[in-house]
Amino acid sequence: MKNRTPHLRFIPFLFLFPFFAQAQTSSAPQLGKDPIPAIIKAMTPDEKVKFVAGNGMHFPGAPSNNNNNGPVVGQTADKVPGAAGTTYAIPRLGIPSIVVSDGPAGVRIDSVRKDIPGKTFYATAWPVGTLLASSWDTALVQRVGASFGNEAKEYGIDIMLGPALNIHRNPLGGRNFEYYSEDPLIAGSMTAAVVRGIQSNGVGTSIKHFAANNQETDRNTVNTIVSERALREIYLKGFEIAVKRSQPWTVMSSYNLINGTYTSQEYDLLQTILRDEWGFKGIVMTDWFGGTDAVAQMNARNNLLMPGSGDQSKRIMDSVKSGALSEKVLDENIAGILRMILESPAFKGYKYSDQPDLRQHARLSREAAAEGMVLLKNDDRSLPVASAAKNVALFGINGYDLIAGGTGSGDVNKAYKESLAQGLTNGGYRVDPELKDAYTSYLADYAVKHPKKGFIQEFMNPTPPASEYVVDNDLLLKKAAAADLAILSIGRNAGEGRDRKLPGDYYLSDTERMVITAVANAFHAQHKKVVVVLNIGGVIDVMQWRDQVDAILLAWQPGLEGGNAITDVLTGKVDPSGKLATTFPAKYEDVPSAKNFPGKEFPEKATGGGIFGKRVPAEVTYEEGIYVGYRYYSTFNVKPAYEFGYGLSYTSFSYSSLRLSSATFNGSLTATVTVTNSGQVAGKEVVQLYVSAPSGNLDKPAEELRAFGKTGLLKPGQSQTLTFVLTAADLASFDTPSSSWIAAGGQYTVKVGASSADIRQSGTFTLPADLVVEKDHKVLAPQVQIDELKH
Ligand code: BGC
Repeated sequence: MKNRTPHLRFIPFLFLFPFFAQAQTSSAPQLGKDPIPAIIKAMTPDEKVKFVAGNGMHFPGAPSNNNNNGPVVGQTADKVPGAAGTTYAIPRLGIPSIVVSDGPAGVRIDSVRKDIPGKTFYATAWPVGTLLASSWDTALVQRVGASFGNEAKEYGIDIMLGPALNIHRNPLGGRNFEYYSEDPLIAGSMTAAVVRGIQSNGVGTSIKHFAANNQETDRNTVNTIVSERALREIYLKGFEIAVKRSQPWTVMSSYNLINGTYTSQEYDLLQTILRDEWGFKGIVMTDWFGGTDAVAQMNARNNLLMPGSGDQSKRIMDSVKSGALSEKVLDENIAGILRMILESPAFKGYKYSDQPDLRQHARLSREAAAEGMVLLKNDDRSLPVASAAKNVALFGINGYDLIAGGTGSGDVNKAYKESLAQGLTNGGYRVDPELKDAYTSYLADYAVKHPKKGFIQEFMNPTPPASEYVVDNDLLLKKAAAADLAILSIGRNAGEGRDRKLPGDYYLSDTERMVITAVANAFHAQHKKVVVVLNIGGVIDVMQWRDQVDAILLAWQPGLEGGNAITDVLTGKVDPSGKLATTFPAKYEDVPSAKNFPGKEFPEKATGGGIFGKRVPAEVTYEEGIYVGYRYYSTFNVKPAYEFGYGLSYTSFSYSSLRLSSATFNGSLTATVTVTNSGQVAGKEVVQLYVSAPSGNLDKPAEELRAFGKTGLLKPGQSQTLTFVLTAADLASFDTPSSSWIAAGGQYTVKVGASSADIRQSGTFTLPADLVVEKDHKVLAPQVQIDELKH
């Protein structure tokens, strides 16, 4: 009897808080053997609230975490040191911890481990997103994804935190290198290809950052004010394509707010649109420390809070107890995570080797890099330059110190990076040794004076890159007399945490301009060519200097084999076939978002401090609406330096016989076109299909990319016929008042060409009457009037 009193005293408490009623059973159900509801039922409240938040991070001052053994970006003592995070394990229920790792350009983990001396864990630095997109070759990009995913799996990773597909809204975006394009069809198609590739290994992906996260300035506080139409057509479209075509295991919500609500706390974004409208089946995780309200995140169906903190778990616990958060919602979030874990290599007990085939991956990285380089200029056929006995005077610090990829979580710990100097040497050129010595000692001296810091320190306060080296004038004249040609490399690096600047970054520095002028004058006086190689992750100005040089190869940030890949293109071993997936404007002021980037700050409302710094509220208004990139330039007749879709080749292509399957649209329409190599060497052509639609009641861009393809390697004279299918969705625009996608009745023009401004064939068809293609929910409306650009 004695024992019953306290027991009875607990009855009302249990009744009030059924959350506590679920006690641990003696023979606990096991994940994989027992149904998910049974597993959830067997979880204790404490386990539940820890399970929806990851294991946290370790670094001085970091928020407390669940079990105090979480990893830290760049330095963890966990299962995979250097991975970005892990989930909470519940061994008694057979639930393992899974490992998530950055990032889009390669597996980012520590390359050496204290406890395993002598062994390395280097990863392949793949070409960055901007380069992959410039290949316009989804089959190739899927192959990259497959090898990338294999590497992740062999290093014990369950989910890759990528690919990243935010739209290139403005060239100054610090993370543009990670992203693909200014166009959502390209962004979505590339993402789907990478996801299919990675996930073919049984490893998951987290496509990011969902959504409208197009700047780094104030990234944790910025409120993106955007119209429903621009959101749907430009900023969500790529995610929609990727979700529908590839079903990524997870989506990562972004740091910013959209029209007043943090994305991770926005039910209509994560449930109404992502799941109900698009059919997403996986889970949503936050970006690292994203959002402010763990309970709102649970309610928004943001299943997993990463990297996770004890404070978040406690808030969730308190809210369930008080009834502010329904346990059903918590359970649904848990169920999603459990379903994902069931698929993971960790759950399946995969015995990873820690020995991926890095050599084979390096070969593929080189192949992909060459495929995505874009030949911007090639006067008098300055390129290719056969390597035999060519003496190259190589200028520019980046010629000796390749920028393989960008910084921050998109960086990769690679075993090596092949410089252009080395690549040229491997390719049979003779790289002038005197210049090489001058540059390498300048760089070595700089490195001694500015040693690289640890990941976090570099993140907070990056070591500035060395300024361009100025070669002594006598030496320059001597080299102009002796060498066969000059190659000048210009490099740029950027990354997470900050946007780029105009002077000395978007625009070349005075020193760079001076070097270009000096090299061009000296070599042109000797009737020798000057070739510029752009080793950059995002768009820079070319107008101020391009007339001074003979050829420009846009090599982007080409991954660890960059120097070899650039050489493959310079020698003509690979015909350049990349085309721009992002516009190079004539001047920065022409960029449609220029006056609204990066928005405004409200320092008087700043809060916080500590290791994450102050939180300064900010907002940015997307006044350019749907007129992003070429949609703006071609509609408003603003001539860019190099338009979307542009890229030269060593050969030429003719287009013929565009045929449309019908003169009237009836559900779908097929377009076929024949492309013939009309030049002298073998090459591939990226073929682009744009649609000009009748405006009906809506403002319409002059043209929109609706399909694209790439030929195989065509020999001179050889032809290939490409087929494209247009569906009703390809004709439609988002009508805000009715929240529906409407294709206006009238005449449509199909334009097939080599770039957005170089249309070679066109044809027309008619849609007899307006067509409502899809009806969506009325959600995410801006709360303020936007003075949106109209045509
Ligand atoms: C980045 C994400 C990344 C995460 C984990 C965040 O700061 O925005 O892209 O996946 O860190 O490292």
